[in-house]
Amino acid sequence: MTAPILRTLSELRAKTQAWRRAGRTIGVVPTMGALHQGHLSLAQAARADCDRVIVTIFVNPKQFNNPEDLAKYPRTEQDDAAKLAPLEVDAIYVPDPDQIYPDGFATTVSVAGLTDVMEGEFRPGHFDGVATVVAKLFLQTQADRAYFGEKDYQQLMVVRRMARDLDIPIEVIGCPTVREPSGLAMSSRNLRLSDQGLATGARMQAVMQDMAGQLAQGAAFADLVGPARDTLLTAGFSEVEYIDLRCAETLAPLAAATRPARLFATAWLEGVRLIDNIDVPTA
Ligand code: PAF
Repeated sequence: MTAPILRTLSELRAKTQAWRRAGRTIGVVPTMGALHQGHLSLAQAARADCDRVIVTIFVNPKQFNNPEDLAKYPRTEQDDAAKLAPLEVDAIYVPDPDQIYPDGFATTVSVAGLTDVMEGEFRPGHFDGVATVVAKLFLQTQADRAYFGEKDYQQLMVVRRMARDLDIPIEVIGCPTVREPSGLAMSSRNLRLSDQGLATGARMQAVMQDMAGQLAQGAAFADLVGPARDTLLTAGFSEVEYIDLRCAETLAPLAAATRPARLFATAWLEGVRLIDNIDVPTA
C-alpha cells in the first residue's frame, strides 16, 4: 500500500504526536528523492528497527553550491512513492519549501572541524546546508532513530556530531553502501551516466580496493595516491578532486593504515561528480 504523502509540518506532527502518545518508536530516513536500492536499504533497516517509519524527500537548495547541479537533480516523486510501497513505510514527508525555510528563515547550523576537509573543501557551504536541513528534519519528525548511508561517510559523521552537540535525542545509524554488481556505489547521480560511463565509474571502486589491499599490507599512502590518480584519468575520468586516507573516527589524515581508516575518493566523469569511500583494514 502506498504510504500517505504529507506536505506540511502540521500534518506530520498530527501523525508523530499520535504515535508518540501510543508509545511507538519512530525511524526517519532523510532523502532528496530519486530513490534507488541504497535508499530502500535504509528504509528496510528502519522498518526492521522501528514501529513507525517516515521517509523524507526534500531537494535541499541550501546544500547545492552549484545551481546547475540543483537544477539537474532528478525529481521523481511518483516513482519514489511506488518504490516505497512494498516496504510499508508509514509516511512520506515531502515538505513544501516554506515548511523547511519559511519567509525570514535566518538560522544556519554549522559543524566545525569535520567539515573543513574533502567535501567541505570542494563544496563550500555544502555541510552547513546539510546540517541545517537535517537538524530541522530531526526536530520536525521527532524520530528516535535516523538512517544514513555510509556512502556519504563524511555527511554521516557531521550529522552525528550535530545531533550530539545540539542534544537532539536521536540515534544516528550508518548503513553499508549498496553497490551495483560492477562495484559502482549506487547514487541518484548515476542516472546521468551513459552505459560507458557506468562501466568506467566502476573503475573507481576497483582502484580503491587495490589501494586498500596495499595499505593493509603496510604500504605508505603517499606511494599509492599518484598512480591511483593516473589510473583513473587514463580510464576516462576528467578530474580527480581528491583521494584521501583518513582516520575513520576523526577524519584526520593518515600516512598509512595504522588505525581504523577509510579511503575516500571523488572524481568527475561525463560531467557527473562521483564520490565513494571504503573501510581499510588496519596494517
Ligand atoms: O544524503 C542526502 O540525500 C542529503 O544530503 C540529506 C541527508 C537528505 C539532506 O538533504
